[in-house]
Amino acid sequence: MQRFEAYLSQNLPKVASFHPVYEEALGAMLQAGGKRFRPMLLLSIVDAWEPMLYDSALPVALALEMFHTYSLIHDDLPAMDDADLRRGHKTLHKRFDEVTAILAGDALNSDAFYLIARAPLREDVKIKLVELLARDGGSRGMVLGQAIDCYFENKPLDIEQIKVLHKNKTAKLIAVSLQMGAVIVGLEKDVQENLYRFGMDLGLLFQIQDDIIDETQSEEEAGKPTGNDEAKNSFVNLLGLEESVLQADSLAKDLQKRFEAFDEKLQRALNPLIDTYLYRHRP
Ligand code: IPE
Ligand code: IPE
Ligand code: MG
Ligand code: MG
Ligand code: MG
Repeated sequence: MQRFEAYLSQNLPKVASFHPVYEEALGAMLQAGGKRFRPMLLLSIVDAWEPMLYDSALPVALALEMFHTYSLIHDDLPAMDDADLRRGHKTLHKRFDEVTAILAGDALNSDAFYLIARAPLREDVKIKLVELLARDGGSRGMVLGQAIDCYFENKPLDIEQIKVLHKNKTAKLIAVSLQMGAVIVGLEKDVQENLYRFGMDLGLLFQIQDDIIDETQSEEEAGKPTGNDEAKNSFVNLLGLEESVLQADSLAKDLQKRFEAFDEKLQRALNPLIDTYLYRHRP
């Protein structure tokens, strides 16, 4: 985590121009903090199998965080969730203006792929990484999830549809973080796929927990506005808080069991993350 944070602060987008706030806007939300869950998933896999590749994987980990941060900057815009606070700081459109926030998000999206393309890794590995991030972050993944999320505000979906929504907007980026780590260290296809399936359910849990947090935490605790999901197809709105917590618990237990069947190296690598995040919906 410290190595990643140090790498991030040394590699914030640097673009010299006479624009008074452009460069500041590009880096502001990256510097603001956050759990760094996606880069940590990727780096844990790399650290477990090929610690020698750790430094070469850092730009890819940063690419994931940049891509995720772009999705948050756009998620907070007035046209989407209209949020004033993110990671305990003013959102970009509040601190600067909407145009600056939209463009900073656009820039981080493209810059993520630029970072991967320039990483000191094998060319075939980098092409695969670009393919995977584009597959799960773009029109077939995160963007689809966000489109469904926003289009169906105040139009209730059923539980299966909400799972599709959550899997696209959140789970795919989490699952692909594990898979991208596996690609960097050259794990077999079936191991990659197993990790990806685990990541999809971990990501579904992560978003259910996020829905619960919207109901149970204060703005200070969450670092973002809470009680903000009123119009949303959240787990809590469909099932109620109690049932959502029960379902999160049962998914967490199922994941714990599957985790314990992973090989030892993988368990050791992911253990801190699993420990921290599997039951975070329980205060
Ligand atoms: C928030 O993501 C949006 C979701 C997909 C739930 P995180 O909860 O990972 O936010 P940060 O990165 O820690 O700020
Ligand atoms: C956003 O989901 C998921 C993204 C792809 C950004 P939310 O709208 O629930 O995330 P928060 O609660 O604002 O962090
Ligand atoms: Mg949203
Ligand atoms: Mg939001
Ligand atoms: Mg939320």
